[in-house]
Amino acid sequence: MSPDGRLAVCPGSYDPVTNGHLDIIGRTAKVFERVLVGVVGNAPRKSDHLFSAEERLEFIREATASLENVEVKIFRTLLVDFAREEGATAIVKGLRAISDFEYEFEMNQLNRKLAPELESVYVIASPSYSFLSSTGVKEMAMFGGDVGDLVPSAVAKALSERATS
Ligand code: PNS
Repeated sequence: MSPDGRLAVCPGSYDPVTNGHLDIIGRTAKVFERVLVGVVGNAPRKSDHLFSAEERLEFIREATASLENVEVKIFRTLLVDFAREEGATAIVKGLRAISDFEYEFEMNQLNRKLAPELESVYVIASPSYSFLSSTGVKEMAMFGGDVGDLVPSAVAKALSERATS
């Protein structure tokens, strides 16, 4: 597909999506005309996802249903190939802390080498979500913690079901 300067890809594992992710997606949707949320189908370092790619996609679809310019798709290729195939010109990622920066800096250089025409754009997490991660949420939920304020209600329900099964 030919590049569309109005389309941004927001990629991630989203295992599961948190309110922090939704904050980044929603803010991106105010800047770009169209946002495509890319759900990693099979990340090499995270082979043991708690939720299947289809479940992760469905959580995001439901939580972003009110945002008309947001679409969600699973990808099982390199991120830059997915973005290119979809015609995006930007990859948008959230940054919470310096620890995120180190990882994203490396990814940025690699992605830039593979696809110099794609620009990566970083959105700083809102202060209320700067501590929030999918990993932390899963750990809390698995030990019976209440994560109702941190994730969409369907995710909180699914996490509590997994915790008790
Ligand atoms: O932190 P996340 O959510 O697991 O990040 C996922 C993603 C795709 C944004 C990150 O792994 C990345 O930037 N990867 C770039 C390298 C790539 O294309 N890998 C293949 C898909 S994992």
